[in-house]
Amino acid sequence: MNKSVVDLIRAYDAFNPLSRASTIPSSWYTDARIFDLEKQTVLGDSWQMAARFDQLTKPGDYVTAEIGDEPIVIVRGNDNQMRGFFNVCRHHAAAVMTEYEGHANQMRCPYHGWTYSLEGELKGTPDFNDVCSFNRTENGLIPIEIDFWEKWVFARVGNDEGRNSHETRVTLHEFLGVDLVEQFRKLDLANLHWFERRSYKLSCNWKVFVDNYLDGGYHVPHLHKGLDSVLDYSNYSIENGERFCLQASPMFSRDHEDVSASRKGSRALYYWLYPNFMMNLYEGALDTNLVRPITIDRTEVIFDFYFTDVSEAARERNLASVNVGDRIQQEDLDICESVQRGLNSRAYDAGRLSVRREAGEHLFHRILHSDLKAGVED
Ligand code: FES
Ligand SMILES: [Fe+2]
Repeated sequence: MNKSVVDLIRAYDAFNPLSRASTIPSSWYTDARIFDLEKQTVLGDSWQMAARFDQLTKPGDYVTAEIGDEPIVIVRGNDNQMRGFFNVCRHHAAAVMTEYEGHANQMRCPYHGWTYSLEGELKGTPDFNDVCSFNRTENGLIPIEIDFWEKWVFARVGNDEGRNSHETRVTLHEFLGVDLVEQFRKLDLANLHWFERRSYKLSCNWKVFVDNYLDGGYHVPHLHKGLDSVLDYSNYSIENGERFCLQASPMFSRDHEDVSASRKGSRALYYWLYPNFMMNLYEGALDTNLVRPITIDRTEVIFDFYFTDVSEAARERNLASVNVGDRIQQEDLDICESVQRGLNSRAYDAGRLSVRREAGEHLFHRILHSDLKAGVED
């Protein structure tokens, strides 16, 4: 029997306490209709990390990104203001900016050469003289909302005139919540500088990766033997905010391979921000994970590594740290793909959650449910 999307969403009971809760149903990881709804609601209406602030310091600097299926560009204008636009030409819809990042004096579409200013106004339209009722001023790039927090530029592609017109718009700072903003203010990330980006493609739904991240260290002693030797697993704590979860683990300074050399400090802090952004903090190091859904069973995870010392002298040490992350990531990647295969099996629908470990996952599933439900009710 072919269930409707509403039936699929109803199959999850968001009111169960953790001790009675199950995971979201496997169909949410395998049904393309859920994926389409997520693109509109979970990704479209949330604030998404779109660029690093350090990529956009001068007028003309730009970064492109994709949020769900939406191509966007963030650019610093000649007036020094940063703006976000859909990276979609108003002529025949080609992507105007085609590089991931760079510097430009204007934004020129590669297809027929339409040109937009750094502020998004349409300036040049070759061979367009005899076109009637065409108003250039109405054909600038379509803006999106952007805002800043800590080291990042966030963007929101939701259409406020559309489906959610009756709802009040959530600002980035409301989305983050006072609690998270305050915790990060105290962490003082100002001395951390971007070092390197790595990206991984996984054959699984994006939520499988998020679930794996939010299992409260449950998988660490089994899957990551190297990491387990530096984390004090029994004292791992899990604390839920409104749209974030903080998992914290005290660290031992035992010698084990090269992990303890690159995972320094007394505590590791793992912050997850709904729906798909993680910030992992160690002493003198930060890495972020942006989980980018590509298709229902294809996901890209983008890692950005930051260190206090990014000088040439520290390069080797920083690379060693990044490489440790690489190994841990490979272990996670393999298990995520294994989980996706299991989710496709007729043998599995949903599973129970550990009260000690999996409160973060429970929070994730409940917010997700609320967003999807709102999406079908509109
Ligand atoms: S699509 Fe951009 S100029 Fe034609
Ligand atoms: Fe892991």
